[in-house]
Formats: sequence, structure tokens, C-alpha cells
Amino acid sequence: MSNVKFYQPEHQVPLEMHKVRVVQKLTLLPVEERLRAIQDAGNNTFLLQNKDIYMDMLTDSGVNGMTDLQVAAMMQADDSYAGSETFNRVKAAVKEVFGTDNVLPAHQGRACENILAEAYVKPGMVTIMNFHFTTTKAHITRLGGEVIEVVNKKGLLPQSDDPFKGDFDLDLLRATIEQYGPEKVAFVRIEAGTNLIGGQPVSLENMLAVADICHDYGVRSVLDASLLQDNVYFMKTREAQCKFMTTKEIYHLLAAKCDIVYFSARKLGFSRGGIITSVNPKFTNEMMEYVPLYEGFLTYGGMEVRSMEAMAQGLYESLDMEYINQGPEFIAYLVKELDDYGVPVIKPAGGLGAHLNCSEFVPKMPHNKYPAAAVGAALYIAGGIRGMERGTVSEQREPDGTERYAELELQRLAVPRRVFTLSQIKYCADRVKWVWDNRNIIGGLKWTYEPSVLRFFFGRMKEIGHWQEDLATKFREDFGDSL
Ligand code: F0G
Repeated sequence: MSNVKFYQPEHQVPLEMHKVRVVQKLTLLPVEERLRAIQDAGNNTFLLQNKDIYMDMLTDSGVNGMTDLQVAAMMQADDSYAGSETFNRVKAAVKEVFGTDNVLPAHQGRACENILAEAYVKPGMVTIMNFHFTTTKAHITRLGGEVIEVVNKKGLLPQSDDPFKGDFDLDLLRATIEQYGPEKVAFVRIEAGTNLIGGQPVSLENMLAVADICHDYGVRSVLDASLLQDNVYFMKTREAQCKFMTTKEIYHLLAAKCDIVYFSARKLGFSRGGIITSVNPKFTNEMMEYVPLYEGFLTYGGMEVRSMEAMAQGLYESLDMEYINQGPEFIAYLVKELDDYGVPVIKPAGGLGAHLNCSEFVPKMPHNKYPAAAVGAALYIAGGIRGMERGTVSEQREPDGTERYAELELQRLAVPRRVFTLSQIKYCADRVKWVWDNRNIIGGLKWTYEPSVLRFFFGRMKEIGHWQEDLATKFREDFGDSL
């Protein structure tokens, strides 16, 4: 795909090396119904119904397009409680991709995190990571552990041309281990494709340095490889030493250096499920007993066999640059469209999706009126597009009940792999531009129901004033009877 040059370079567009063979009908409701739908959903895009959505950009998790070979593989699933051949095929795929022999299955990524936390986190311990992920942090804090983030300062700059904004600050990592003492560090977690700061990659050099530091201090190193395939694409295209390495060499090197690797196969592997793996059986043995307790027997771990077959095939495909470049290149296209128009987006473009920087989108709105959620509601009203709040709503309150304001107020527009056409991506850019031009109409939100754990999943909010009705009216004025 990236090797294909257009005759007129100014018309360069990402070109897929696959074709679509199964499609799903979409609906686009009139703006008045979109207004009602978002209000019925408590301004929480998680609570919208899929039938009311035109472009579902909530997540790239479990919604990626599958290949013909994945679908075919699902037909040969070996359904047995114990000793399933399907699990042997998953193990063979993990071995091929990561070079590891020890494999524990779990029903998805957060289930792996639960097992890791149960095995290693004790009250008063810390875990150090470039940046937290919501479910990771919830499992660690639930068990009395603390999360400490040591991402390099450049990672939190919304606009930058730094190619690896997810990198660790290595000095801070060393200082933090020394401050707490290695025995108090449950593990150091490297999050590839750092989700909450905009899908920003970590360089191979930095990941290896982190693993070396952990080794020197005798602290466990854990790689969250859920977003590793996008990250590997960026290593290959942005990091000199990776240019001539194969994708497989990169995966193998990382798995050899990090003590434990886990991933959500809803992302890595274009399927469903989760895996924990290690070159060293010591680690999988330490975690093994939790698998039957929380997930299921060691040869299925809560996964459905057909998903396991799709995962095995999808893992082989995650080595193929012609598949793994589609997501990042569509995202880069969307980010460029928005950036050229002046819309504040996180730069450089990362993996996972485009991220609107809502602190600049609605600069006068304070954190406690939830700018990222407000922009998300506005975008659904404007285009039937569902994004995800990745700002203060996605944070947890402090133990004393005060709000913890997010470092970055982001509205994430995920680009599931191999799902959207370029015209849909252009439509998305068009509607974001309209919302940007009408940003003065956007007002804040307030809680009507606030759960105490992972509140972004099912909390409900209400507009302050009636800006949402005003936005819908303006849409009608500008677009006439168009949907
Ligand atoms: N780690 C990372 C980096 C993730 O992005 C996710 C999920 C998980 C772990 C948990 O995996 O969903 O299979 O339990 N991210 C999804 C998202 C939910 O939309 O960003 P899971």
C-alpha cells in the first residue's frame, strides 16, 4: 500500500491492499432524532444504540474487519473443554509471532490485567508505566496498589513532531524505582501505542532500554501489546534501526526482552480474547492458577473457540505490513484533513484513531464542565458519529472525592481496521469541521448519575442550558433537509 505512488502526488491517498466482500447496512437519522438519541443516552456515547449510529468510531476494539481466512478458520474450531486443538493453533500462532512457548488464555485484555494484578500487586505496592490505561489502573488500585506514570514530558504536548511520544522518561523511571525500592515495585508496564495520550507509539530503543533497567533492578517488565501492531508500523516507518528488521524480528526481540507480554486480541489479532505469554515459564506458572479461577480452563480461558481460531489467523496477519498499515494511514489522512483546516488534533497522527484536543476546541470550558464529552455529544448531533471521551470523565475521582482533571481532554475518533471507506473518513472530517466552525454554540455538561468505578461506561450527563437544541437548529439552517 505505502509503495504505491500516484501520478499526481498531491492526490496521494491511502490505498488498501484488500477488498471488501461482506458489508453491513448503515442508517443516518435526521438531526432532530440524533439530538433526542444523545440526550436519551445521558450524553454518554457508550449508551447510544448502534442502530442510531452512522459511523461508529467509539473504539477499535473487537470491531475490526476480518479477513476471508479468519472467517474460514472459524469453521474448523475444536470445541472441547480441555485439550482443544484450537488452543494448540493459538499457541502455534503466538509462538510464530512472539517466539514464546508459555501461553495463558483469558477472555479479553482486562482479564489479563486482572490476573497480573492478582498475581503481583499487594497493598502499598506501586506499578510504574509510561501511561495508565483505564482498566489497568482500576485493577491495580482495587488491590491497594498505586500507578505511577513516567511518560516523557513530550508525550503530553498536544502538538509536536516527535515520532515517539509514548516513550518513557528513563531517568524518571530509574529514580522512581529507587525512590520506592525495587521490592515495592510490582511491575513496570510498557504500553505500546499509548492509548490515553492519543495512540502514540514507543520506540523500540526505548522499550528495550526500559526492559534493561528493569532487569538491572530485578523488577518485572510487562509489555501491554494490545496496540503493538500499530506501534510496529511506526517503528518500521519512523525508527532507523527498524527499517530493515522484519515485523517478526521486532515482536520476537520484544518478547525475549520483556518478562511478560499480554494483549487484547480485540485489537492485536483483529478478533476477540486475550493472551498472556512469556519466554519464561516461571511467570506463567505464577499466574496460571488464576486462569481457571476467573476465566476458564487453561485451554480456552473464557474465550469462545471460533474467536480463538480467528485470533490465531489474525495474529499471523498482524505480521503483514500490508494489513497493519491500513489503520495508521487512514488515521494520518484524517488528522491531516483536520489539521489543515485548523481543527486542534493531537499530532503527530498515532494509531487507534484521531484525537480532537478539546481543551483547544472549546478553550473557555473548564475541566469540570467536561469539554471532551461535550464535543463528543456535539459531533454525534452533527454527524451521527460516535467517538469516545478520553478526558476528565474517563478519570477516576481521588479517594477523597475530588475530581482528577485529565492531562489531556481528548475526544477520540477510533478508526477500526479495514472497516471504513475513504469517503466515510472524508464525511467524518467534514462534520468535525462544521462542529469546529460552530464551536461557540457548544456548552458544558453536568452529571445526573455518576457511578463510583469506571464512570465513563455508564454515567449519565445533561447539557447545561440548551446548547444542544441550538446546535441542531443551526445544522438545519446550514444543511437544509440533508441528513
Ligand atoms: N490495554 C490497552 C492498551 C487497551 O487499549 C485496552 C482496551 C486494554 C488493555 C483492555 O483490553 O478491552 O480487551 O479488555 N482498549 C479499548 C479501547 C477498550 O477502546 O481503547 P480489553
